[in-house]
Amino acid sequence: MRILVINGSPKGERSNTYRLTQAFIAGITEQLGKDAVEVLTVETSKADIRPCLGCFTCWRSEEGSCCLHDDMASVIESRVWADVTIWSFPLYYFSVPGPLKNLIDRQLPMALPFMEERTDGMGNGSHPSRYDMAGKRTVVISTCGFFTSEGNYDGVHSLFDHLCGRGNYEEILCGQGELFRVPELHERTDAYLQRVQHAGSEFAQGGISHETAEGLKELLFPRQTFEAMADASWGISRETGEAEDEAISFTRQMAALYNPASFDGTQRVLEMNYTDRGVSCCIVLGADGATVVTDGSVSPTTSIHTPYTVWQEIAQGKVSGVDALAQHRYSVTGDFDLMMHWDEFFGGGDDDLPGQTATKGSTAAKPPVMLAMLIPWVAFWTAMSISPTMGPMITIIACAVTTLAFSRHERTVYDTLSLAVILGLVAASLAGAPLATLLLVSFIAFGLMWLVSALWFTPLSAYYVKGSYGGDKALRNVIYIQTNRIICLVWGITYLVSAVAAFVAPAATPVISELLPLPAAIFTVVFQRWYPAHVARG
Ligand SMILES: Cc1cc2nc3c(=O)[nH]c(=O)nc-3n(C[C@H](O)[C@H](O)[C@H](O)COP(=O)(O)O)c2cc1C
Repeated sequence: MRILVINGSPKGERSNTYRLTQAFIAGITEQLGKDAVEVLTVETSKADIRPCLGCFTCWRSEEGSCCLHDDMASVIESRVWADVTIWSFPLYYFSVPGPLKNLIDRQLPMALPFMEERTDGMGNGSHPSRYDMAGKRTVVISTCGFFTSEGNYDGVHSLFDHLCGRGNYEEILCGQGELFRVPELHERTDAYLQRVQHAGSEFAQGGISHETAEGLKELLFPRQTFEAMADASWGISRETGEAEDEAISFTRQMAALYNPASFDGTQRVLEMNYTDRGVSCCIVLGADGATVVTDGSVSPTTSIHTPYTVWQEIAQGKVSGVDALAQHRYSVTGDFDLMMHWDEFFGGGDDDLPGQTATKGSTAAKPPVMLAMLIPWVAFWTAMSISPTMGPMITIIACAVTTLAFSRHERTVYDTLSLAVILGLVAASLAGAPLATLLLVSFIAFGLMWLVSALWFTPLSAYYVKGSYGGDKALRNVIYIQTNRIICLVWGITYLVSAVAAFVAPAATPVISELLPLPAAIFTVVFQRWYPAHVARG
């Protein structure tokens, strides 16, 4: 496939739109293979293409030669050469940028001068093509600065409908175009670019599907969030028109990402104390949105003390916020709960990344539940103690029912391990092993599972509570993992002590096994709140 890209952005390769175009071509290449795709690019910012003089010299010459001797002749050659022309440009005043309009005008030699009927309803009158352009395909890719492309492209549609025939081209039109150059927002823009790449691969197979096209119309961010971010990005106060500290503009953009749906009735005030700039401002997180207060009139509930440079690195994804915290590159005082649920507060007001509506409500597994791991153990201990004869059968049924009941939940290695150990113990029981030995082995195995997970692997509890801390992301959070490691260590020791007690003083087993978990449970509740905040205070 021979592709001609006409990049009509004055920014050349730094163009927002060109990022989409590159993703689209990556999709075509992915589908057809590198050797089957040839790409030629014309940059209107670099090419020497002068405005049409309107002299009609080209129409008077047999070969359609223009009197201007610049790069346009080679552009026309490339147009004829290409199977696909991709028009890649920003929206300028509801139309195409000037230099691109020059290029379009200078295509006059591609037409013959004679008058022809227009039969496709796109106006009256046309000119026959000088070249055989049958079967050639056109793609229009454009970004614009408003929150949506909807309603802003009628001028462009009219132009390309006339040039190519009504709707006789594929298009990707994207609002919020300036966000593609913001590293802090790459998660969302990358997701969009992935969709564009997918569109490219569909295009190579025949055409962009309706589903993909609809996905590409989704907004990168909700309107309110985007507009607040855009307004804050200029570094000029909307109220006074005066320039403000870069760190304050940055904080305003951060505040724009606040998701009011996360408001739980508690008014939180987040102070950003930029220690290297001597600037501090507060973000008041309320039911209707976030407000940035710079005059010190509010008291913070959570304060982040950070060099501006460090917070920028975090926002740009160069370093993880948790790693930086663990390395004491910044500190947090006050209520730490906000930090533990950061993604819920500052997730941009919409959990879905663009273009993912189609996969919503799909078969994605629910987070793991601890009951799936616990029930086989509890069933074994209870059933075997009540009836050593019926116990194995009851345990097997309990294991089967548990597996079925939680089949929609993600299974952890500890769910599987628990099931394997319990079924092994049941098998041993059926083979005649004494009950006391089996119970002792089961207590030791249970305790060891917690202990070993705490010392060498991802701690067991981390899997089961990750749903409340941002899902799999939590497993990369060193403070979260460290907290769970210590909790699992305490529970591992508790269960092993219970096992030893059961061996040494069997009569006291019920009391010990009931009482020992109590301090462990209290420790868990207190420690999981205290420890992360303690680390954060530095
Ligand atoms: C002179 C000028 C005119 C613009 N006109 C519009 C417009 O009419 N509508 C709009 O939504 N955005 C408009 N924009 C914003 C650009 O379309 C937007 O920033 C785009 O993402 C830039 O893309 P690029 O990086 O590929 O050049 C305009 C920008 C400039 C500089």
